[in-house]
Amino acid sequence: MNQEEIINDFPILRNRKISYLDSGATTQKPTQVLEAVKEFYEMYNANPHRGAYSLSIEATQKYEETRKKIANFINSRHSEEIIFTKNATEAFNLIAYSYGMEKLKKEDEIVISIMEHHSNLVPWQKVSKKTGCKLKYMYINDNFEIPEEEIKAKITDKTKIVSITHVSNVLGTINNIKEIIDYAHKKGAIVILDAAQSIPHMKIDVQELNCDFMAFSRT
Ligand SMILES: Cc1ncc(COP(=O)(O)O)c(C=O)c1O
Repeated sequence: MNQEEIINDFPILRNRKISYLDSGATTQKPTQVLEAVKEFYEMYNANPHRGAYSLSIEATQKYEETRKKIANFINSRHSEEIIFTKNATEAFNLIAYSYGMEKLKKEDEIVISIMEHHSNLVPWQKVSKKTGCKLKYMYINDNFEIPEEEIKAKITDKTKIVSITHVSNVLGTINNIKEIIDYAHKKGAIVILDAAQSIPHMKIDVQELNCDFMAFSRT
């Protein structure tokens, strides 16, 4: 696709005649997305999974088709693994307030990195405060990368959860998440991956990565 074709897909860029440089924070929506949302509300909107009338059944089918498309997109084994939340922030809070609050004890540790978005920081501060478990941070070197020694120093046998961003929204660093996931699993921890910045830019295969949870924004 050339630049003109891409711009043609985004009505806001045509309408406002602007170059938009803040996609890392909020993405603009292409015509295909805008039309799909409009079509859903104009043709299918009803209570999914909760009604026996035909419109509700069609809405349910649309939801489930979407779940399957997303499962296929990230190569997850079952479409039931896909859980819709309002955004990535809500997804991290859901994991922290359900799994985190339930499973962690005073002697356990959570490991995140110093480059996390607030949405993957504040929920773990809350879990740490409530359960008494320790929250540890992996620090970066002069190249804005997390060195292998830091991964091995912070993730230990006490670590129960590692929650890490794939790509930093502040630094642009692409973390070596495969190494982190494999090491964390070796130590008996689960890994939550923040894919908010990576999902639009690279192919993600959750089976290959073997992460335990992954969160990303829908647009
Ligand atoms: C790396 C990263 N994680 C999480 C989020 C939060 O995403 P959401 O707005 O979907 O809650 C963002 C938002 O920009 C982000 O850049």
